[in-house]
Amino acid sequence: MSDSTATMTETEPPKPSGLEGVVAASTALSHVFGEEGKLVYRGYDIHELAGHASFEEVAFLLWVGHLPNTAELAEFNAKLDANRGLPEEAITILRQLPAETPPMDALRTGVSSLGPLLPGVFNEEPDQDEAIALSSRFPSVLAAFHRLRTGKEPIAHKSGHNTAQSYLFQLFGNEPDERHWKPLDTYLTLLTDHGMNASTFAARVIASTQSDIVSSLTGAVGALKGPLHGGAPSLVLDMLNEIGSAANVDTWLTDALDRGDRLMGFGHRVYKAEDPRAEILREMARTASDPDFFELSRKTEESALALLNERKPGRKLYTNVEFYSAAVLAAVGLPGDMFTPTFSVARSVGWSAHVLEQVANNRLIRPQSEFVGPMDLTFAEVADRR
Ligand code: ACO
Repeated sequence: MSDSTATMTETEPPKPSGLEGVVAASTALSHVFGEEGKLVYRGYDIHELAGHASFEEVAFLLWVGHLPNTAELAEFNAKLDANRGLPEEAITILRQLPAETPPMDALRTGVSSLGPLLPGVFNEEPDQDEAIALSSRFPSVLAAFHRLRTGKEPIAHKSGHNTAQSYLFQLFGNEPDERHWKPLDTYLTLLTDHGMNASTFAARVIASTQSDIVSSLTGAVGALKGPLHGGAPSLVLDMLNEIGSAANVDTWLTDALDRGDRLMGFGHRVYKAEDPRAEILREMARTASDPDFFELSRKTEESALALLNERKPGRKLYTNVEFYSAAVLAAVGLPGDMFTPTFSVARSVGWSAHVLEQVANNRLIRPQSEFVGPMDLTFAEVADRR
């Protein structure tokens, strides 16, 4: 081929590997042991922490390196508390977004705006104070946008609330019930970090260019949004609502697989056993969610696993974290389109911990690509091209 009209469509690229199995960074923050179905944060198995350590204790663990003692936790909570407020101009920006803006897009815009709107805060090389200043405001941005899009005025956070309480209070304006904020707190601890997932990788790549922490987390929000990563839980809810009743489960799932659709909430790049977070969330859903909805979820999970095993033998497809996240977050009172944004509240801590780890021992992340395009083409003027 020596014609300048050659296009990429003429050369079939090989199936992309998606960097599967590639080690892109060393980290002491968290690790997914995929074969065993085990997740570890700084040496603690997730079962040690979930339901025992608060989200704030887990944030301290990731950012600082150890679980806080009483005095450290009190000081840390006070810092989080002092960093939840939004500048008025950030609310003005959120106010201008159309009500139908997906909340993940509003979050991306709101988080990005905090850089210039908090002058002097994000000027230095990213550090713990910057991580706190940004991550603490994720719930506030989301709550403010949710209220504005539903015709209500944003509510300022209340001092003394933990992250889960603060988020629910700013969303709904009532003192949050323990039956809601406790499961949300546990959910946040489960989703705080997860090895070298796509959005964390995005955050680390941006940090490695010596860009700022606001850019890293804004990029990470964009990466989390996609349904192959964090965007699945509202789609799980849509699926369960469409299925509607236990009698429809098998037909609905069979039709979806016949069409070549993916079943949301199943499969994972790394886990080749059950995701431990799915197991914990299933038990939380059993007690927190509406019994009929839980039964429908159980039946759907059971049939989906059987069908996937039958159609993709050897693929080891299991329930992932997103499946029961849907039931738990719905039970907490959150609307479906706030599920992925709520995931970001948790993951903002993991992302920023990775940014700090990256900058502490940085080298630009710049991989290579395999060139599969044509070579030695001869230029032709536009009028001479076929
Ligand atoms: N439904 C149907 N088939 C599936 C599913 C699924 N949920 N997951 C994987 N498969 C099939 C694929 O079609 C593929 O089959 P093939 O080799 O015959 O073509 C095989 O299993 C392997 O799938 P890959 O796409 O190679 O797996 P990959 O590691 O790239 O993707 C992913 C993992 C994206 C999570 C995938 O399992 C998926 O799309 N799941 C549904 C979406 C979802 O639940 N996303 C949330 C993930 S959890 C998180 O990020 C927080």
